[in-house]
Amino acid sequence: MKIKILGSGAGGGLPQWNCNCANCRRARDGSGDVLPRTQSSIAVSDDGVDWILVNASPDLLAQLRAQPDLQPARAMRDSGIAAVVLSDAQIDHVTGLLMLRERTTPLPLYACAPVLEDLSTGLPLVPLLGHYCGVDAHPIALGEPFAIPACDGVRFTAFPVDSKAPPYSPHRASSVPGDNIALLIEDVASGMRAFYAPGLEKINGDVRAAMHRADLVLVDGTFWRATEMIDLGFSTKRAADMGHLAQCGDHGRPGMIDWLDGLPRGTRKVLTHINNTNPILDPHSAEHALLREHGIDVARDGMQFEV
Ligand code: MLT
Ligand code: MN
Ligand code: ZN
Repeated sequence: MKIKILGSGAGGGLPQWNCNCANCRRARDGSGDVLPRTQSSIAVSDDGVDWILVNASPDLLAQLRAQPDLQPARAMRDSGIAAVVLSDAQIDHVTGLLMLRERTTPLPLYACAPVLEDLSTGLPLVPLLGHYCGVDAHPIALGEPFAIPACDGVRFTAFPVDSKAPPYSPHRASSVPGDNIALLIEDVASGMRAFYAPGLEKINGDVRAAMHRADLVLVDGTFWRATEMIDLGFSTKRAADMGHLAQCGDHGRPGMIDWLDGLPRGTRKVLTHINNTNPILDPHSAEHALLREHGIDVARDGMQFEV
C-alpha cells in the first residue's frame, strides 16, 4: 500500500500566519533550508487510484494541487478521495472537510463516536455539510479492524490514545476513549503495517504493542521539548497540556525518542505533525542530527512510503 504525507505540520503549519519564530522566518524568506509545511494529513491507497484521507487539513486544496495522483479524472467530476478517516476532532484535522462540499455523493466519514459528536455540536461540520454534499458517517469501533469499500486492500484498526480532545470540546479536560485514536493500517495482501498517531500524549500498553507490530511508525512530532512553547513565551502550556509527548524526556519520564529507540530494528520511524517552533525542522540543527543518530526521520510534505 501507498502512504503519502499530504501535510507534516501541526496546527498553523509552517510558516504560521502570525509567527516569527526562527523556523517561520526562514520558511517565509526561503533562507536556511527550512521547508514550508502544510497541516497534518496523510493519504492511504492500495492501488494508487482511490485514496483514503486520514484527516482533512485546512490546507487540503493546496495539498491536492501538489498531489495530481489524487485527481484521476475518470469523469467530468471525479476525485481520488474515496473517504476520510479522522484521528480526532482537532481544527487542523477536520476543517478541510468543508473543502470537499462539492462532492457529487455524500462524503464517507469514518470517526469514533466522540469525534462525530464534537463535529455535530461544538464544531458542527457534519450537519453543515448536510446542506451541501452530505456526510455518510461511519462510527469506528475501537479495536475492531475495518476496511473501506473503495480501498478494500487496506485494513484499519483504531486504538484509543491518551491525548486531548480539542479546546472547543466539552471533554477537553476529561478525554473519553475515541477522542483521539492511533491507527494500525495494514496492507491485507502483504501483511505489512503502518502505525499512525499524529496526536499522542502518553504511550500505553496497547499503543506500544501496536507500534511494535508496525513496519512504519509515523507519530506525533509536535514538540522537541515539553516546555517549548513556554520557553518561547508563546504559551503557558506544556506539551502534555496540549496532548503531545515531546521528543525529549521530561522529569525522568521517557520522551518519544526513548519510545522509538525501543522499537524492533528495521522499523521505519518518522515524526510528523511537527509544530513550527520545533528545531528539528531545521535540517542543520543539532536536534535534527540527534534524530538521525537514532534513525528517526523528520516528515516533509509529499513524502511517500510503500508499505
Ligand atoms: C493540536 O494538535 O494541539 C491542535 O491541533 C492545535 C490546533 O490545531 O489548534
Ligand atoms: Mn494538531
Ligand atoms: Zn513559528
